[in-house]
Formats: sequence, C-alpha cells, structure tokens
Amino acid sequence: MMTLIEKAAQYIANAKQIVALTGAGISVESGIPPFRGKGGLWEKFDPMEYAHIDVFLKNPKKVWDVMLKEMKEIIQQAKPNNAHLGLAKLEQMGKLKTIITQNIDGLHQMAGNSDVIEFHGNFAWLRCLNCSHRCAMRDVNLDVIPPTCSCGGIYRPDCVFFGEMIPMEALTRSQSLSKNCDVMLVIGTSAVVQPAALMPMIAKDSGAKIIEINAEPTPLTYSVSDVALQGNASEIIIKLIDTLQPLV
Ligand code: APR
Repeated sequence: MMTLIEKAAQYIANAKQIVALTGAGISVESGIPPFRGKGGLWEKFDPMEYAHIDVFLKNPKKVWDVMLKEMKEIIQQAKPNNAHLGLAKLEQMGKLKTIITQNIDGLHQMAGNSDVIEFHGNFAWLRCLNCSHRCAMRDVNLDVIPPTCSCGGIYRPDCVFFGEMIPMEALTRSQSLSKNCDVMLVIGTSAVVQPAALMPMIAKDSGAKIIEINAEPTPLTYSVSDVALQGNASEIIIKLIDTLQPLV
C-alpha cells in the first residue's frame, strides 16, 4: 500500500507540466507570519482597516506607521527556508515549471526559481502615487512616514491591496498554466482568497492531480486535493524530494 508521500511523488514523476500555487504558509518558517490562523497578521490588524486601498489613500501615514513599517522589518530579514529551496530543487530536476505565488516576500526568486508569477505583487518595490517613480523598499528610510518621492508624491508598496485588481498578465498567465498543467502543488495557502483560490479548481477541472501541502485542512482538502499532506511545508517537501529522486 503506497504512502501519501509515495503517491504524490509518483504523480510528480509521471507529470510533464507541473505548477505550484503558494501562500503565506510556505514563508512562516522564514519568520514571516501568515495572515490567518495561529499568529496570523489579520488577528492583529483588521485587513479592511489597514490593507484596503481606500484606507491607504485616505490615510497613508496610518497604514505605513502601523502595518507597513513592521512588515518591512520582518520581510527584509527573511531568508528562503527548506520549502522554498525544495521548490528550486524541483525546478532543477525539471519537475516544476512555474510558481504562482500569493506572497510578496520575493523568497522564491531568492531560493532560485526562475519563473515566479507574483499574484499580489512584490513588497520589495515602492511606487510614487503622483509620478509613478519606483524605488526599492530597502533603500527607503522610514524616519519620515509616509515616505515621499522627490516630486512630493507619497510612495505605496508595489503589492496588491484589497479592493485592487490582480495584475492582468499575472491573472491570465496563471489561468492558462492552471488549465494546462497535469499536476498542481498547492502549498501553504488557506485557499479562501479569490481569484488565487480558483487556480486549483481550474487545474482540477482540466484533469490535473492536486497535491496539497498545508499545516491544517482547507476548503480544498476533502473535495479537490488528490493527495493532502498535512504538516510543515519544509519537512514535507524534503521528504517528497527524497522519495521522488529515485523515480526520475
Ligand atoms: N507549513 C505549511 N503550512 C503552513 C505553515 C507551515 N509551516 N504555517 C502555516 N501554514 C498554513 C496555515 O495553516 C494556513 O492554512 O498556511 C496557510 C496560510 O494561510 P493565509 O495566512 O490565509 O495565507 P494565504 O492563503 O497566502 O492568504 C492569501 O490573503 O490577505 C490576503 O494578500 C493576502 O496573499 C494573501 C492572501
């Protein structure tokens, strides 16, 4: 009788087009808190109070002061963990083409994956609300809040706030990759935020096998996932690669 890990490894070994969808859970072991569940950011900050574009435009100082400053410190010192490194290894093995990530921490690129779709943008860049000048988050000092551009405009992070559209290119590429993959790895996401949470459904409807890796059950676990591996993403991905290696 095959274990769940062996079943997942077999699906990956037989697959030609593999795509991953990742969420905040994959970065928890890098010191970045998730949004929901234990220690989640939304337990601390009401997202409609701090992460909605209308609130940011009305009171950028409050959002920078209370939430963005803390996020900058946390994200800037984060390094890829074994889950990120494992996905980079899967790409090297020719067993992962693209990562669709909801995360804004840039850790997949830092780990070495070469094709990462940033569904919710990236926290590493700021954009001036007035002249659209971009600068690196790393280079801005937050002694003055909110940070402002030389034109006097206020800088906003280059990520997608609630109330904003997903970048069109990210959305269309993700939909087509989800439609054409034969395995989707779904890692560290509560699968409740649309339209990202639609991608596993599109993949499933197109006949793909869904392998879910998450610390707790999600709306996908009992109805969409073909294999649900519950636990820490880094431990599971290490085991998955060890089991896969002899099969490829
Ligand atoms: N290993 C695996 N899974 C984990 C780990 C871990 N070490 N730690 C936490 N998790 C799981 C949690 O159980 C949870 O189901 O990761 C999931 C994280 O869910 P969320 O915090 O909701 O993150 P995500 O799904 O990425 O949220 C989607 O919501 O607020 C918006 O823009 C934000 O991109 C985010 C989107």
